Amino acid sequence: MDSPKRRIVVTSALPYANGDIHIGHLVEYIQTDIWVRYQKLRGNECIYVCADDTHGTPIMIRARKEGISPEALIERAHAEHVRDFSEFQIGFDNYYTTNSEENKILSERIFAAMQKSGAVTKRSSTQLYCEHCKMFLPDRFVKGKCPKCGAEGQYGDSCDKCGATYGAEELGEPRCTTCGAKPVLGESEHLYFELEPWHDYLKAWLKEHTQDEVSNKLLEWFGEPLRAWCISRDAPYFGFEIPGHKDKFFYVWVDAPIGYIASLWNWCKRNNKNLEDYWPGAGGENAASGETKTELYHFIGKDIIRFHCLFWPGMLHAAGIQGPDKVFVHGFLTVDGEKMSKSKGTFVNARTYLDNLPPEALRYYYAAKIGGTTDDMDLNLADFVQRVNSDLVGKITNIASRGAQMLQKKLGGMLGALDEGGRELIAKCREASERIASLYEERRFNQAVVEICRLADLANEFFDKREPWKTVKSDLEATRATLTAALNAFRIIAIYMKPILPRYAEKAAKLFCESDWTWSSILEARENVQLGEYEYLASRIDSKQVEAMIAAALVKPGESGEVSHESRASKNKNREEAPAAAAQEETPALKAEIAFPDFDKLDLRIGKVESCEIVPKSSKLLKFVLDAGSLGKRTIFSGIRQAYPDPAELIGKEVVFVANLAPRKMSVGISEGMILFAGTPGVSGGAISPLGAAAGGTPVT
Ligand code: MSP
Ligand code: ZN
Repeated sequence: MDSPKRRIVVTSALPYANGDIHIGHLVEYIQTDIWVRYQKLRGNECIYVCADDTHGTPIMIRARKEGISPEALIERAHAEHVRDFSEFQIGFDNYYTTNSEENKILSERIFAAMQKSGAVTKRSSTQLYCEHCKMFLPDRFVKGKCPKCGAEGQYGDSCDKCGATYGAEELGEPRCTTCGAKPVLGESEHLYFELEPWHDYLKAWLKEHTQDEVSNKLLEWFGEPLRAWCISRDAPYFGFEIPGHKDKFFYVWVDAPIGYIASLWNWCKRNNKNLEDYWPGAGGENAASGETKTELYHFIGKDIIRFHCLFWPGMLHAAGIQGPDKVFVHGFLTVDGEKMSKSKGTFVNARTYLDNLPPEALRYYYAAKIGGTTDDMDLNLADFVQRVNSDLVGKITNIASRGAQMLQKKLGGMLGALDEGGRELIAKCREASERIASLYEERRFNQAVVEICRLADLANEFFDKREPWKTVKSDLEATRATLTAALNAFRIIAIYMKPILPRYAEKAAKLFCESDWTWSSILEARENVQLGEYEYLASRIDSKQVEAMIAAALVKPGESGEVSHESRASKNKNREEAPAAAAQEETPALKAEIAFPDFDKLDLRIGKVESCEIVPKSSKLLKFVLDAGSLGKRTIFSGIRQAYPDPAELIGKEVVFVANLAPRKMSVGISEGMILFAGTPGVSGGAISPLGAAAGGTPVT
């Protein structure tokens, strides 16, 4: 236990800024957090950094769709992610963003070093280009017919139906998924990171730095020369422009892992530390003080091993920066044996979970299932309720609640001395210490939980055998010794549990009037001291809470999974209420969603109605002449006569109109624009009114 203090830097993968944190993500963040807390509890210096992954096309498109800037989108996501993580007690030392000054400097510095190594090359490629959106289309932004099997609606990289992979330019009848236009072929020059020069280095690296399942899988590619990796993207792109390459941006997967270092650097600045001492090679000019070696660890899911176990160590090696000591890869979460699904209500956001259940329950259950392998992990909902109730509440917490309450009520809350049987029980609890420690170190948390539950069983058996509820009537001091032993056993168990349940352990420490437990606190015993007040530690959960959570997470068929932020917010707010059925039925179906650039094409102006008259022989049309200020006069025909039996009442009103609509020749004359009216379509008479405003001819923004 007195081994020298290690310096450890730990990361979890950076969640994308265009999505909510969900219970699948939490498999990773909870597992990393447990490991980090374990390291800290053991007295090691352990820095846990993370950030939002903010760059790339999907984020840009999402922001466009919502009509906000990417910066506003990522700021909102950051606030939501931070709140979710903190409620799940994920104790980051720094949670940053990849859209930071530090990340820009580091990305440029690392890219320059990669160039210097000779591994960055340039070549030109043919790509689909949307003339309407004015952009080269990434694979996921084009759909068409699979070149192999002819299935419609397939993305530009692979076919869902037959599994074929191909280039986007091979698709039949390709369409831009943003605007529906037919893309054309364009030539674009791109930067590549050559991996073949590092073939032998990476091959050796893989064998040592990750689990066998992972290295075996990636080593399959080493039978032939490694393919170069395209690291640039064309404008428009939300990211960092590549120095010396106008309108070319770093592909998001270049600056995302660099974001680990950037977050650490930001932490260093805030804590007066030298980056070079924490991530050797990354500190630029600053020399390391060389006092301690740093260990670097990444926790990631199995879907992103290519980036972390090939490109990333390659980049770092080319740039002369220390690579990760280990990449710990975990599997994916399934719920009741199946992939998380929106239509089944098992795609549960962190927020939806928290609205219905306590975070401790999930932390405990995940710990009880995480074994440090790449196997998928199942959240079985019935098992979840059962295990939390029987083990965490019924077994572990029960010792404290029974012991403390009896001691407070009958014995003035005063702990006594351990008797012989008590000392034996405590010795058994201490004896498990190094076994449990290695299980934590090896990320076999499920085994650690088994060990801890075994100790809780011992403590409960001890309690039951001594029958303190009987002895309390005859022998108060013997009863005090029993309760003292049971409570001291609980204290050790709570220390062992601290990485998994930090807040629970904090409350438990308060019960013993202590703060700041470390692993070696198990060597002390609390004897002949007053017990603090008993605060509730964990309560039973009910399957009704789980049902409510699933109901809240359910996305009905036809409802898009990617709900807009506004509708998501209002959905959450109204979760308890039945949908307003009547109002929904009256509203006609919405037309297909348009992208912001489409909306932005409208030139909306304000004009004053100079004259408004009935058009002879038409039951629908009114003829307007608008005074549109600097635009002059506009004649517009609108089909709203039924709503205005007396058109004269519109004269003098200010209205909003589309000023750049192509003039339209009608049988009664040429219409030079379109006036906007609001009302209920299909309902005639009085319900319609022009969207008015204040000033003539000014653009509407
Ligand atoms: N932004 C990238 C990571 C960049 S790291 C330089 C990314 N983001 S993510 O939001 O999609 O995923 C973040 C992490 O959560 C990844 O490690 C991913 O494997 C993990 N998980 C996402 N869904 C998951 C499950 N359903 N189950 C377990 N882990 C999951 O990838
Ligand atoms: Zn387009």
